[in-house]
Amino acid sequence: MLTAIMLTTRLTRPFFGFSGKTLNFKNMQNGARPVQRFDSPPFTPDGRRSYAGDVDQIGSRAVLVTGCDSGFGFSLAKHLHSKGFVVFAGCLLKDKGDAGVRELDSVQSERLRTVQLNVCSQEEVQKAMELVRAHLKDPEKGLWGLVNNAGISTFGEVEFTSMETYKEVAEVNLWGTVRTTKAFLPLIRRARGRVVNISSMLGRMANPARSPYCITKFGVEAFSDCLRYEMHPLGVKVSVVEPGNFIAATSLYSPERIQAIAQKMWDDLPEVVREDYGRKYFDDKIAKMETYCNSGSTDTSPVIDAVTHALASPSPYTRYHPMDYYWWLRMQVMTHMPGAVSDRLYIH
Ligand SMILES: NC(=O)c1ccc[n+]([C@@H]2O[C@H](COP(=O)([O-])OP(=O)(O)OC[C@H]3O[C@@H](n4cnc5c(N)ncnc54)[C@H](OP(=O)(O)O)[C@@H]3O)[C@@H](O)[C@H]2O)c1
Repeated sequence: MLTAIMLTTRLTRPFFGFSGKTLNFKNMQNGARPVQRFDSPPFTPDGRRSYAGDVDQIGSRAVLVTGCDSGFGFSLAKHLHSKGFVVFAGCLLKDKGDAGVRELDSVQSERLRTVQLNVCSQEEVQKAMELVRAHLKDPEKGLWGLVNNAGISTFGEVEFTSMETYKEVAEVNLWGTVRTTKAFLPLIRRARGRVVNISSMLGRMANPARSPYCITKFGVEAFSDCLRYEMHPLGVKVSVVEPGNFIAATSLYSPERIQAIAQKMWDDLPEVVREDYGRKYFDDKIAKMETYCNSGSTDTSPVIDAVTHALASPSPYTRYHPMDYYWWLRMQVMTHMPGAVSDRLYIH
């Protein structure tokens, strides 16, 4: 029965889903009732959203993307440049001459410029903002887009995770996003532009052994919603992209990184935790994480397309879900059904 409901929800979405649904809000000031559209991207049978036909001509709008040394950010910088954007590619290791930075620099285009940017450093964020402003064609008209992509990840059950780890992940994923957004908002507001925050499916549904990451991405979701409400009257559009599992395609985890995290975690465990859980339990969890990391999609184009749409479409969506069927369905169940049902299906 439950499966039938889930399948019905899934299959009827293109016809009875959110696209084109309207709600009316009373404007308290003048009594008028402007129509608010809530759009959601059309779903195609292969699980991929089709955004391409919906993307505007770019002109030469300028965007800043954070975390371009590797992964989504690196691909995004190249893709957005190829689409005609002026791209400022924020790189954590530009000053150290990282391979990703060198490759981006080798494009040798006036429309693609790498910028030193550690989103944890107020000074670097401020400097990057000033550099971007100085290189805009018309700084008075502002910056069109900001893509908060920089992020790190880790894993480990609550009792295995140190407070330092929680803080470290939050410093990049959550406070880095807030810090960078606040610094660039004056420029974005001028352009009545776009903010695109890369969250995660784990910003919508939690998972065991992922609390240090989940709480930061839930925070990014909340921040994005508040910002979207505040910016709407000012003409700035805020979107969230919630990728599924693309770990096999990016540098978020490698087998070596998983092993390094695991070793440090075990070494730092309080004695009571080590004794109570035991090495076998711990190793089984690490093996599970390794399997998860090997099972991801290797094609990042759904994520790249989603960000491009959020930046270039006249009607960007509030949320994008580039993920495969399994994770899409699981996310719907976990966000729409009572906890007792979704826990039984997926967690216990
Ligand atoms: N891959 C997935 O399955 C997946 C799924 C959902 C969401 N995401 C999100 O997607 C975003 C991009 O991740 P990715 O998968 O492309 O991983 P990635 O290849 O590791 O990319 C993350 C980028 O952020 C950079 N970075 C790390 N700390 C930074 C800091 N303090 N300041 C500025 N940049 C920093 C990294 O630089 P270095 O390379 O120099 O360390 C790297 O270039 C992240 O927000 C991640 O949470 C990824």
